[in-house]
Amino acid sequence: MKKVGLVGWRGMVGSVLLERMKQQSDFALIDTTFFTTSQAGQLGPDIAGEAKPLLDASNITELAKMDIIVTCQGGDYTNAVYPQLRESGWDGYWIDAASALRMANDSIIVLDPVNKDVIEQGLSQGVKTFVGGNCTVSLMLLALGGLFEQDLIEWVSPMTYQAASGAGARNMKELIAQMGAIHQSVAEQLANPSAAILEIDKIVSEKMASNQLPQDQFGVPLAGSLIPWIDVPMPSGQSKEEWKAQVEANKILGSAKQPIPIDGLCVRIGAMRCHSQAMTIKLREDISVAKIEQILESHNEWVKVIPNERDISTTDLTPVKVTGTLNIPIGRIRKLAMGPKYISAFTVGDQLLWGAAEPLRRMLRIIVD
Ligand code: HSE
Repeated sequence: MKKVGLVGWRGMVGSVLLERMKQQSDFALIDTTFFTTSQAGQLGPDIAGEAKPLLDASNITELAKMDIIVTCQGGDYTNAVYPQLRESGWDGYWIDAASALRMANDSIIVLDPVNKDVIEQGLSQGVKTFVGGNCTVSLMLLALGGLFEQDLIEWVSPMTYQAASGAGARNMKELIAQMGAIHQSVAEQLANPSAAILEIDKIVSEKMASNQLPQDQFGVPLAGSLIPWIDVPMPSGQSKEEWKAQVEANKILGSAKQPIPIDGLCVRIGAMRCHSQAMTIKLREDISVAKIEQILESHNEWVKVIPNERDISTTDLTPVKVTGTLNIPIGRIRKLAMGPKYISAFTVGDQLLWGAAEPLRRMLRIIVD
């Protein structure tokens, strides 16, 4: 049995990962050691048999005893520990949720329903570092996998609607607290059926502009508003989240030498944990919508085409429907007025599952099975 060290399993992505590993009985296949950055010596979880004391996640000697390390601890941890561990001569598999090593020459970004061939080739060539992709990138590739696989996409412009979870657990709580504070400010008026909406709107607007909403995490109100910028600025004028789309997607697809242009704007909205994306796609050929739908749906078992109809789009193509599932619905597929090779599409995916934990869990299984 391979010795697997888990780091960062208590955080949000780590907890989702552990849950999925329990559901899929992964712990029966591995000899698990839980590491911690803050509670060494305390008892770990007993999900992998008998609860054992947690080991110090900065202890290179202990880490080096592992065949595989899976970390959801974040980029600072990776930057601090990974180089030391490799320099110590450790030759194990490093599976990481953080972005720190994504663009390294000797790492592979894992999304096996899309790039199993790239992963298999890497494994056979001795690659030992596997990193989960940016959530919007992974969710887009799962949705459009069929069209990418058949090289039918000339370019894509994804405009994102990203959930609070992508910014972190505290941000999710803050979003709810903002919603609550807004409601509270007009609760009395809402209870009065004759209260005028413009009066309610005035109170809400003043509340949101007053700096009185909880906004330590986002810095601004997200509830009742949006934030058209995610992550730090890049020299290109893109945000870093926008920059990742093209570089990561092409690395995953193995097309980095002749990259497919992928660029759009990334926007934070008040959804909880599902990222949505509205995509404008230029195809290389004029293909019928029916054929496009068939190509998309046959690519993997999670993607599902939602007919371009009002009722089903408003129920099934939403964060509310998708949250907590591995489903990747894609809909609003139609030809655009720009010409027969231009189509629209809209997709939704759980940012913590396919967007973060699931590709790591599946990579572990590829190594262990
Ligand atoms: N960077 C993403 C976001 C989440 O802010 O939504 C992680 O990929």
